This record gives sequence, structure tokens and C-alpha cells, in this order.
Amino acid sequence: MPGIVLIGAQWGDEGKGKATDLIGTKVDYVARFNGGNNAGHTVVVGDESYALHLLPSGIISPNATPVIGNGVVVDPEVLLEEIDGLESRGIDCSRLLVSESAHVIAPYHRMIDKVTERFAGKKKIGTTGRGIGPAYADKINRVGIRISDLFHEDVLRDKVSNALHQKNQMLVKLYNRRAFDVEATVQEMLAVGERLKPYVANTSLILNNALDDGKTVLFEGGQATMLDIDHGTYPFVTSSNPTAGGACTGTGVGPTKINRVIGVSKAYVTRVGEGPFPTELFDESGEWLRAQGHEYGVTTGRPRRCGWFDAVVNRYATQVNGLTDIVLTKLDVLTGLKEIPICVAYDVNGVRYDDMPTDQTAFAAAKPIYEMMPGWTEDISQVHAFEDLPQTCQDYVKKLEELSGCRISAIGTGPQRDHIIEVHSLLD
Ligand code: IMP
Repeated sequence: MPGIVLIGAQWGDEGKGKATDLIGTKVDYVARFNGGNNAGHTVVVGDESYALHLLPSGIISPNATPVIGNGVVVDPEVLLEEIDGLESRGIDCSRLLVSESAHVIAPYHRMIDKVTERFAGKKKIGTTGRGIGPAYADKINRVGIRISDLFHEDVLRDKVSNALHQKNQMLVKLYNRRAFDVEATVQEMLAVGERLKPYVANTSLILNNALDDGKTVLFEGGQATMLDIDHGTYPFVTSSNPTAGGACTGTGVGPTKINRVIGVSKAYVTRVGEGPFPTELFDESGEWLRAQGHEYGVTTGRPRRCGWFDAVVNRYATQVNGLTDIVLTKLDVLTGLKEIPICVAYDVNGVRYDDMPTDQTAFAAAKPIYEMMPGWTEDISQVHAFEDLPQTCQDYVKKLEELSGCRISAIGTGPQRDHIIEVHSLLD
């Protein structure tokens, strides 16, 4: 009954889509457990490139059943648009299962996300503006709308009216916006609910039965470790738990059913939005990494902040997720550099930190301590065995492995599906 969790080990955009898709061809279910359409995966299959936000990347694999777990916040309009977009390109989405307990991103959540960010000015989080935080806030405040509520008109009206009672006051009096009309909102939500109905199911039961039957389930995290509401760089984080524990709470599967936890790390680091980032580059090397790695957000199109590999972050990711394997992506982007710096520790006001300072004031002051590794110039995109990589490239990977405290089991060497070196099988 293999349960495999796949998460981002840094600040997101590590290339999880490619890793998920690679494993996804061999699994029976791919279940997303957190976040919403703030995520963005690009999956490249042949000449086709698919930008996915809400759908699990397993949707592209014909043999896997894609699942949206209860821990995800679902914007029904976005989900339906994504389904329509894929179906028009010949991808069958009829296998999709959506948890009836997942919370809904309502139209007012999107509005609140945008106005509160604007209102915060310099103190903004730099959210994706998709309504993620406000939807999770309502879930925790126990005034959220769940997918199953979309099928009970009276219950839905009652809940929307209750939620808008306070929110409309805030929108009108504090933010100078128009109030949401309860009835129009209810009708809009009922209409999308009707279209979503065929996909809605008791996904916790389905996944548990599947695991009991010896099927393989891949639990796919949105965002990443350093954006976790508990373990990330709070408050510059997302509003869910992208770390491995979130796979259990976000799908209704117990920890005893998880056999493997795979972390995806880029061979360097990127971040979008605000918040501390010790290895961030402000010079031409940062520009170079952005250009070489095409580092622009799939969801917002924002240029990503770029920096060197941060081994302190990776060691921390190994710790808080209990990683068993790392998939290292975009190694090819570093080709052509004479020397490659790796951040091995931090200097915080004259004190060396080998481990992540959880005090955010200390983390914000952290300066990277670098160790230099020699680079390589050879094209590595056609290499399929670790031993065939240039020696300096092998040394770089081995160094990252040693510093991360977890084995590197696969290495991404280019954007195509087959641009990958599998060092250890991710499935046995
Ligand atoms: P939110 O998730 O839209 O509330 O945004 C909170 C923070 O998480 C912001 O800094 C976003 O840029 C970041 N974020 C959210 N989703 C992703 C993602 O998929 N990749 C990278 N950063 C993300």
C-alpha cells in the first residue's frame, strides 16, 4: 500500500509538476492536499506545454486518477475553466475526483485578498490575489463554504448570508468597495456547483480503500516547505500546510499509510512575493539565473527572485518533512558557470547558524556563508546516467546531497519529460 508524498523543499516552483508527472505515470491516484489555484505547474509532454493551477499534474497521465483533497481550497470557476481548457486539447478529465469537504473560494474571497493586500501597502505579503488566504481564514473561523454546501440551496444561502453579513460591512465601510449581493452570489455558486457535481466524491474513503487494496497513491503538495503556515517564513507564507504532514490532514489518510516522502529542490533557489531570502542575488548573476531558468511565475507572470542553492533550507526541509528522497531539478540551468556558490550556513549578527533559525527576526538578518564548487560547460540534457555527468557536475550534486542530509534520487537536466536521470527508483 504505497503512499508517496511529494512536496516542494524550498519556496515553491521547484519543478514539482515534472517530478509528479514522472512518478504519476506509475501511480494509480495523484491527490493534491493543500493550496488552490495559487499553485502553478508547467508540464511539458512532447511539444505540448500545459500550465496547471488547480488540477493535480497527474491529470495528464492517462492511467492515474487525479484527486483534489479536502485540504485544497477550490475556486469552482477556475477549476471548470481548467477542465474545459484541457478537454479542448484532447485531455480527458472525467476521472477527476473532488472532495466534498474541500472549501470553496467564493467571489468575495478573491476581492478581499486584493483589497487587503492593496490596503497593506509596504506591509503586503505579495499574495497571488486568488483568494487563498481569505478562504482558509473562513475555514478556520468556521464560516467557510464547503463543496457539499453547493448542493443544498437553503444551506448555501444561509452560509453565504452569514459570511457576507460581516464581510460586506468591511468591504463598504473600510475598503470603500461595493457590497456583494447575497442572492446573486448564491445563484452563481449554485450554477458552478451543478457543473462540478459529477466530480464530487468522498475522496478520503476512496483513497483509503485504494491504499488498502495495494494501489499506489501520490500525494502532491502545492507551494513548498518555506511557505508553510507553521514551518515557513511567517508571515510571508501561504495559508496552508504544504509540508508532508499536510498530506494526511489534507486528504483524510493516516500517517501510517505514508511510506515515502520526496522533496523537490531546484539546483538553485527562487522565490516570488515578499519575505526574507538569504541567498537572493541582486547583481547580474541573479539576472542570468532568471534568464537561463525562465524564472517567471506560471500563475502571476511575476519575475521570480533568484539566488544560489541554500543547504540550510534543504536540511530544514529534510527535517520537517522527514524526506526520504530528493528530486533535484534544473541542474542544466547552471551549465556554463565557472564556479558555483553553495550556502552552507548563515551568519546572523556574527553568530554562525548551521541549522535554520526559527526566530524570524534572526532569519531576516541571516547572511549566507558560501562554499565554492567548480562548474562545468558540457551540455548535460542528453545524459541519462549519473556517472556520465561531467565530474564537477557529479561533485556538485554529491555536495548538495551531503549537505541536505538526504539522498538525491532523480536529477532534472532539461524541460522535457525525458530530461531526467533516475539515480534511485522513486517507487520501490
Ligand atoms: P497566497 O498563497 O496567494 O496567499 O500567497 C502567499 C505567498 O505564497 C506569496 O508570497 C506567494 O507569492 C507565495 N506562493 C503562493 N503560491 C505559490 C506557488 O505555487 N509558488 C511559489 N510561491 C507561491
